[in-house]
Amino acid sequence: MTDFRIRRLEKPADFEGCVEIQRRIWNHPDLDITPVHNFCASVETGGIVLGAYAGRELAGYVFSFPAVVHGRPAQHSHHLAVRTEYQGHGLGKMLKWAQREEVLRRGGTLITWTYDPLQARNANLNLHTLGASGRTYIEDLYGPTPALSLEEGVPTDRLLMEWAIASARVDRRRRGAPAALDPGLRPKAVERRAEGTYPDIRPKRPRYDCLDKRILVEIPKAVRDLKGKSGLIAAWQKAVRSAFLHYFKAGFRLDDFICGERCFYVLEKKGR
Ligand SMILES: CC(C)(COP(=O)(O)OP(=O)(O)OC[C@H]1O[C@@H](n2cnc3c(N)ncnc32)[C@H](O)[C@@H]1OP(=O)(O)O)[C@@H](O)C(=O)NCCC(=O)NCCS
Repeated sequence: MTDFRIRRLEKPADFEGCVEIQRRIWNHPDLDITPVHNFCASVETGGIVLGAYAGRELAGYVFSFPAVVHGRPAQHSHHLAVRTEYQGHGLGKMLKWAQREEVLRRGGTLITWTYDPLQARNANLNLHTLGASGRTYIEDLYGPTPALSLEEGVPTDRLLMEWAIASARVDRRRRGAPAALDPGLRPKAVERRAEGTYPDIRPKRPRYDCLDKRILVEIPKAVRDLKGKSGLIAAWQKAVRSAFLHYFKAGFRLDDFICGERCFYVLEKKGR
């Protein structure tokens, strides 16, 4: 496996690599790309950009800027990207743990970011591997921006992650994620219908009467497989959105993610 070296990126020339990675990873049109001058302004004013190098090549980077979230000072992480050829080798994880170290070193205790709730791989990284949590569902955060939507016309819904980087929970995750929970007989606020074969499976109507301390919300294993399939992505988004809005309001928090043959968010109501 390639050896990676992580360092802070600070100079305009460093950020050219970040622009190129955005083009390749997200395939964004120029208007949706964060330009070099934006990275420069951010790092001059408390932002952090960390790059991972394989030899002289920038293989991935993570970018955050100072923010206030739910009234608390935070670093809000806006990009995490690893070149396709280096994905799946632990680099995304390495960048997030390095980001945590840098923020702790600067006296911070909270890192936040958003991601699309139907992206199972990201959910697994955020909730299970890193030990982040969440209690905020943002409907159509970026408006109708095709580059940030799962499919044309689908709103850009996002979950807000809160990563309490000085907590014992996150410290434990640093030493390794626990075994995945068994979804077993736990109540499911959202789950797929029995009929159909993956990926042509629609969600059942959400349940709003789950009273257990821990409940599950299913999402498809790989949302890209649902693209172009007559409204399947929109149907899952609608079910998941409605369940999250309901259960967050009722005091549940995102606690974990199960990524097996089927994928589930684990929501927990604390203090009962
Ligand atoms: C998300 C991204 C940065 C991850 O980088 P990576 O180097 O491939 O990820 P890693 O190899 O470090 O894996 C980190 C974790 O991601 C999750 N993950 C990675 N591949 C996975 C898969 N096939 N299935 C489920 N989970 C997976 C796991 O939680 C994994 O931790 P583990 O190895 O301890 O199980 C990378 O895939 C990427 O650039 N994607 C496109 C841009 C993007 O989605 N950015 C994040 C927006 S929030």
